[in-house]
Amino acid sequence: MKIKYKSEQRQYKLATTRSKVLCFPTRCFVILPVIVASNKQLADGEPVHTILSHEPDKRLAEACGLARAIDLDIVCQDLINIHAPRPATLFGSGKIKQLLDIILRDRIELVIVDHALSPIQQRNLEKAWCVKVLDRTGLILEIFGRRARTREGCLQVELAHLTFERSRLVRSWTHLERQRGGFGFLGGPGETQIETDRRLLQARINKIEKELAKVTRTRGLHRKSRRDAPYPTVAIVGYTNAGKSTLFNILTNSEVFVQDQVFATLDPTMRALALEGGRTVILSDTVGFISDLPTTLIAAFRATLEEVVVADLILHVRDVHHVETEAQRADVECVLSELNIDIDIPECRIIEVWNKIDLLSPSQLEDIQFKAKYYKVPAYLISACSGNGIPALRLAIAEQLGKDDIELSLALPFHAGRLVNWLYENTRVISLNRSDDGEIKVVVRIAANCLGRLRSQTQSAGLTVKDTQIIPGD
Ligand code: GTP
Repeated sequence: MKIKYKSEQRQYKLATTRSKVLCFPTRCFVILPVIVASNKQLADGEPVHTILSHEPDKRLAEACGLARAIDLDIVCQDLINIHAPRPATLFGSGKIKQLLDIILRDRIELVIVDHALSPIQQRNLEKAWCVKVLDRTGLILEIFGRRARTREGCLQVELAHLTFERSRLVRSWTHLERQRGGFGFLGGPGETQIETDRRLLQARINKIEKELAKVTRTRGLHRKSRRDAPYPTVAIVGYTNAGKSTLFNILTNSEVFVQDQVFATLDPTMRALALEGGRTVILSDTVGFISDLPTTLIAAFRATLEEVVVADLILHVRDVHHVETEAQRADVECVLSELNIDIDIPECRIIEVWNKIDLLSPSQLEDIQFKAKYYKVPAYLISACSGNGIPALRLAIAEQLGKDDIELSLALPFHAGRLVNWLYENTRVISLNRSDDGEIKVVVRIAANCLGRLRSQTQSAGLTVKDTQIIPGD
């Protein structure tokens, strides 16, 4: 693309240099391109169609939220209808000029285009506007980069970044034609710069993948030891900012980083949680999901998301106050299905947690209570902030996990006090009666995978359990 508007650009370069000295944080312009039907399609009576699963203005608000997550100063935001996306620039030349005027007027330093941009489009827009241009994937990667806290999180983000860069290497760099020719230890004679870049990137990717595999192996071992423990695992998933960490904290009384910012949580956090009925579970908080999450990112976070795949129960936290709650639900289900979790099959253990009910009006609350009753999966209304609905949710988790429990009736000798304590801590005691001769008759519900532990408890206490009767659970 030819660079036009030279004088404005020169003027702008001066302005941005000046603004870099004067202003912090970065002044940013968020643009949401909406691809709409062409006139011909309209003439043919086809419905106007946008490429977005979310309402455009909500999606724009979300993009601004993403931008704020990396402390950008959003000076302007705009929805731009595009009838015919241009392969070289996405926008038409008239629109580019119009946007340049805004960029100059408002001394913009960064433009975020909430859309996938090809390397060529990104480069051409950067040339035309003389500012850095970031597309949706670039922005999400930027946020992920700032949020990762553990070694695994950092490795996953770097891997996603490099994979993204590698996919954009073709035709994206301006020095493609430069030949290294004849010298250097790394590249053979005639190796082009792009080949070198790709090889270096690939080498770094391989290194990270190896390191990540090591971390994943350790995580796998931990998971195995948790399985042997044997505590069931409960994974919290949900759209970003739905309130997962707040719920995690209130359930486990811990202080996981909670912030009114998207992707506050990037690394899974795990805690033991003691539920009513003596059941202990491992609760894990995971990375927030988002619409159009780039597949490279899903792949990079696969190790983290594996906690979800192997979980005995999934809690899908939803912000029911959010106007886009249904679209967000669909996005989360889409990511789950990429992980081969099909929520529509009966074996799928999922509970929807409808959060932020404190923000609903009484009539909205009434509607939603009615909806929850007939919903496709168990749905519980809560406010993770106020704690409203948490006791019922805890019971529901225990109940869901208790579906495979079995009922046991035990007759224990009078001196089995310690075993009785153990039963109270590790099973749900339904009844306990002492007969005149001191015998203790206990009826408990116990997780099937806990039977082995009960057996070793009785053996180590040297007890003979008479009259053990097993009644299968419902
Ligand atoms: P990511 O880490 O980005 O995926 O976010 P998250 O889903 O873990 O959300 P988080 O718990 O960080 O909460 C996001 C924001 O929502 C915070 O400002 C919370 O205080 C707020 N929030 C969470 N639960 C509730 C609630 O029940 N009511 C209200 N009013 N706000 C809530």
